[in-house]
Amino acid sequence: MSAATDPIKLMKQGVGKAAAELVQSGTIVGLGTGSTTAYAIQYIGERLKSGEIKDIVGIPTSFQAEVLAKQYGIPLTTLDAVDHIDVAIDGADEVDPQLNLIKGGGAAHTREKVVDSLAAKFIVVVDSGKLVEQLGSTFLLPVEVIPMALSPAMAAIKKLGGTPELRMGVKKAGPVITDQGNMVIDVKFDSIDNPAELEKNLNNIPGVLENGLFVGVTDVVLVGEVKDGKPVIREM
Ligand code: A5P
Repeated sequence: MSAATDPIKLMKQGVGKAAAELVQSGTIVGLGTGSTTAYAIQYIGERLKSGEIKDIVGIPTSFQAEVLAKQYGIPLTTLDAVDHIDVAIDGADEVDPQLNLIKGGGAAHTREKVVDSLAAKFIVVVDSGKLVEQLGSTFLLPVEVIPMALSPAMAAIKKLGGTPELRMGVKKAGPVITDQGNMVIDVKFDSIDNPAELEKNLNNIPGVLENGLFVGVTDVVLVGEVKDGKPVIREM
């Protein structure tokens, strides 16, 4: 299958572009992480370059977002230099009917939660394969842990009913190391009945920095689908 007809790629491109079109001149924009948001960053950069929008400043949620923003000419700032974020655009690994999310497939959920939660409007961009009836049904829940607390944190996660697994690197021996120098435990829960409670309980474990449950943060979900070979975008 060529890249131009790969349905997943078409959905990601379409939804990334749709989100980028919502960015207005003179705004501070949270730049998410992942393959879908990468298209949004690209199209924001293209709109800036063409003069369609101006005076945008981005807050990256990861090293990846920072590199892409620089590549596409989006000026960057930090949370020390601004007092608000107008809009954040970010991907997700799962979205439930209440617009709660699992994030962290790219190990960036800690910074993503900081930026996405601060945004006046948080737009989630996903392909239709990310929609689930209940969180945790297709994706393990990522939990970022400081390295020295790995063993006790794993034991505490088991007591909460989870099955923890240390995330290992690809083309890198040993565990994945986050942008903050920590590790990620992916946790299987048989069923996440109360995401808000689980989010708090996990973050209460000493040594846990942040988990990938995003509850009550989302304002808009744009879903990319492919119909008759063409990307179609709908709002959830
Ligand atoms: C990064 O840690 C994640 O939260 C991503 O935003 C999420 O995994 C979605 O990524 P894709 O758009 O690549 O599926």
